[in-house]
This record gives sequence, C-alpha cells and structure tokens, in this order.
Amino acid sequence: MTSTYDVLLSRLTSAFDTVSEGADPALRTSDRSDYQANGVMALAKSRGENPRDTARLVLARLDLAGIAEVEVAGPGFLNLTLTTDFLNDQLRALLGDERLGVARRSGRVAVIDYSAPNVAKEMHVGHLRSTVIGDALARMYRFRGDTVIARNHVGDWGTPFGMLIEHLLDLGEDEAIASLSIGDLDSFYRAARQKFESDDAFKERSRARVVLLQGGDRETRRLWQILVDESVAYFAEVYRALDVTLTPADVVGESYYNDMLEGVVRDLDAAGLLVESGGALCVFPEGFTNRDGEPLPLIVQKSDEGFGYAATDLAAVRDRVSNLRADEMLYVVGAPQGQHFEMVFAVARAAGWLPDSVRCEHVAFGNVLGPDRKMFKTRSGETIKLVSLLEEATQRADAALALRSSNMSEDDRHHLATQIARAAVKYADLSTDRQRDYVFDLDRMIAFEGDTGPYLQYAHARLRSIFRRLESPWDPSTTSFALADPAERELALGLVAFPEALAAALASLQPHRLSGYLFDLAQRFTSFYEACPVLAAAEPTRSERLGLCELTSRTLALGLSLLGIEAPSQM
Ligand code: ARG
Repeated sequence: MTSTYDVLLSRLTSAFDTVSEGADPALRTSDRSDYQANGVMALAKSRGENPRDTARLVLARLDLAGIAEVEVAGPGFLNLTLTTDFLNDQLRALLGDERLGVARRSGRVAVIDYSAPNVAKEMHVGHLRSTVIGDALARMYRFRGDTVIARNHVGDWGTPFGMLIEHLLDLGEDEAIASLSIGDLDSFYRAARQKFESDDAFKERSRARVVLLQGGDRETRRLWQILVDESVAYFAEVYRALDVTLTPADVVGESYYNDMLEGVVRDLDAAGLLVESGGALCVFPEGFTNRDGEPLPLIVQKSDEGFGYAATDLAAVRDRVSNLRADEMLYVVGAPQGQHFEMVFAVARAAGWLPDSVRCEHVAFGNVLGPDRKMFKTRSGETIKLVSLLEEATQRADAALALRSSNMSEDDRHHLATQIARAAVKYADLSTDRQRDYVFDLDRMIAFEGDTGPYLQYAHARLRSIFRRLESPWDPSTTSFALADPAERELALGLVAFPEALAAALASLQPHRLSGYLFDLAQRFTSFYEACPVLAAAEPTRSERLGLCELTSRTLALGLSLLGIEAPSQM
C-alpha cells in the first residue's frame, strides 16, 4: 500500500511540477487541518509572484480525490482535510499490511558503529546510550530494508594493555579469569593502574610488555587474547540482559585495523597530506583551528611511532567504504568526540577514501546525569554498573506487579518484570533528543503513567485484553470505518501517520521522533477509549472500533519493537 503521506506528497509534487520544475513541496501533519503543505513560498519566489496567488495556482492543478477541503492559509500554506472515504481506504489497507504502510526500500548497506566498550573496563552509562540508540537505529534500518553491518569497535589495543597483561600474570591466569568472568572488570583495571603508578618495577615490565605485544610475541598475544575473550563474553551477557541485537560476531575491535595502519600513513603521505610536527605525523584538515586560530592537527602516528585512535578510525573508514561497501556509516558515540570524527571524516575525504555519495555521520549524544544533575556516578565516584541498574529496575517492576492481585506464576511475573525494566531504561534514553543530557531517574522511568516505556507497554497490553474478551468473532476483512465520532477520527489520523514518524526518525537519526509518535498515539487511544465503548457497541460500530483497536495495538507493538522494546500481551 502507499501511505497517506506518500499519496498526498506525490500529488502535491505533480501539481508543483506543472507550475515550475524542480520545486519540492513539504508536507506535515497539522492541528488546523489534517495535513499542511509547505514550499509554495519558494515556488512563488522563483516566479516573482505573490505566494497566495501561487498557492491558488497549485490548488487548481491538485488532484483532489479523497480531499474534503483545501484552504489557502497564511502566506501560502495549503491546509488539507481528508475525506472519510479516503481514511477508510487507508485503514482497510493497513489492516491487511504487516508493514503498516511503511515501504521497503531496496537495501542500502549501512555500517553502524555502536556500543564500543573497552576491554577490561566496565561499560559505563555512555556505553549504555550508544548501545541503546545504536541498536534502535539498526532495527529501524533493517525494517526499512537496508543491510545493517554492526561494528562494535571495542577498545582492545594501546598502552594500557602492558599493565593489564602484567597484572594478569601477577594474579595468575586462573585467578584473573575468575575475576573477569564475574564481570569485575573495574577492580581488575584499577588494581593494574594502581601498581603501575606506585611500583616502578611493574611500570618497567608493563612498558616492555607493550613492546612485546606490538611485536607480535606469541605468548603475549595469548595473554592479551584472554583479556579480550573474557571481556567480550561479559559484554555479551550485558547485551543479552538488555535485549540488544549485538553478538560477539559484531566485535571488530581496534586491533583488527593494526595491519592497515602502515598503509594509512603511506597513502596519506603519497597524497601529500602528511606533515611532521613535533616528531609526530599529522594531517591538518582544512577548516579546523584551535581557539587562537591555529590549524589543528589530527595525529596519525605519535612521536614514539605508535598509532593512536585517529589512525585506527581512518583505517576503519577505508575498510568500511571499500571492503564492506557501505552506503551509509553511522558512529553512535558521545558528543565530546565530535571534533575527532569531524576531523577523521575530513581527512578521509581529502585522501579520497570517503566519497561524497557515502553518508557518514557522527550520531552524537549527551550525558546521563544523576539526580543531582551531575555526571552519573556512584557516591565514591565510580562508574555505575549497567547490569546493576537493570537489576534494580527489575526488582522494582517485580514489586509493583506483585502488589496487583493477579494469578500470574512467579516465573511469568519475573519474566514480565524483566521486560518492563528494559523498556523503562531504554525508553527513557530513546525518548529524549539524543543530543541532550538526561537525568537517570528510575522512579520516573518505571512509572506506568506518563511518557514512559511501561506506559506504552501497558497501553498495548490493555488493547490485547480487549481481544481476549471478545464474545463473538471479529472479521477484519469486512470491517469498514465510518469515523463518526471525532475521537475515532483523531485516532485514525494517528494510525495513518506511522510511516512518516518512522521516516522522520530515520532522516534525523533521532529515535525520539518515533517514541514521541507512539506516546501521542497512545494518548489518542486513551481519549478514544474513554469516549467510545468498543465491545458494548452495536454492529457495525463494534467491528469498526475493534479495527481501530487492532491497528493501534499493532502499531504500538511494531513501533516499540523498532526501539528494541518488547510488547507483552498481558501485564
Ligand atoms: N571505545 C571508545 C570509548 O569508549 C568508543 C569508540 C567509538 N567508535 C569509534 N570508531 N571510534 O570511548
């Protein structure tokens, strides 16, 4: 089926084209009418006309089938109101469409870099954001028909590995594995760092160990691999607890690019981009300056000949463009790394490794704050463990469920609590503009009222319960929509808008565009449900309202699933 939005947009585009080539209309839902068309102003400008005259010209050429009313408003907007017949056709088509009106595009390849925790270090809330946002985007892209290649760019290389390996040897392999496998990554890391800072002999050994690691010494590599494997296994557990789609197969850590780094330097040099500065090899991409207006370097190779974070990312860009054949590359990484990515992309473009045809974006996000609005840390200043947050959320959900009298078994209740807890944590993250900071407030996140994950899950479960209570069958194929009650019409307009909400979320890489839509839909449903009895209504109204309920329930379930949130049918 073609969505309401696409039907209207293509008609407007044809009408615009008959007036002048190449001017595009824009369309949005609006409160004053059902949809509002924009873009007449630009058209009028190019024709040197009064926009209201141009609007009338467009109007005269617009195919008005299914449009009950058009009005030229303000300085040249076109306000469109749909007929009930048109909405009825759309809703009936939606009933038969598993994709709820979303067109499947022929797949592009999207490489999405997300999560990216560091070996032998706890995942912090920043990694939570990257994981949750990246996974939601991956799900939306896949649903649209794209091929997603997830890249978990795990930090598994660099100087700290000298001390980490030496610490592992001091502990003994078994002991070290035991500590890492229970996810005690932070105390392992801290102990290593403490020795490194206080014990000169240890520091010396650590330095020598880095050299062995970089030289490819087999035993050293084996020890390093233990650290990597134990950490990756631990990350996999966190992903399972969060219900994200990342698997160990998506881990392509920094070390993967080691063999490509020499080539990066060689080719940058051949392109005449490399400059020696203070012993380091740098590129000064155009347009980047510090506060004093001096050009900023991207350090590709340090003075000790070591390669850093930037070199690895340059190699990764090349790999993703030429080997993975990416059409799009997303980097879901915190906002403080914005300049790093801008510079890496600029250098890659200058070197000819990143064609303009490839969309390449840093999907930046803000911080997670504690209740005091400062960085979210434990009282002693430590990273808060992601899994313990989830556990706490699960316990609260479980306690809330236990208070309700229900005949759910304890196992079922616990499973449901897990689903609610994940929804709470993920939704809180995905429902704010990702660029903004947000306060981690478990009480608010887990509430069944308000703009929360559990609220949307509950709205869905309530809908499913209507269908459990059906006394006589309902046949979607003979259902039609008269939309006599204003609340029915409002709900219908919400339902047909799902494809554009998803499109908006994808275009802006902002999952909150989708979550905001779902919340709005749930509210439209609530108003409808208050005004319009469903099971008690006489036919054909009962069938019509069941049709609206069915579509609302499916839209909520699909929308939530694209955010990585489950929609249980009973709560
Ligand atoms: N490991 C890094 C960190 O913890 C994030 C890596 C992001 N991805 C990348 N391609 N640089 O901050």
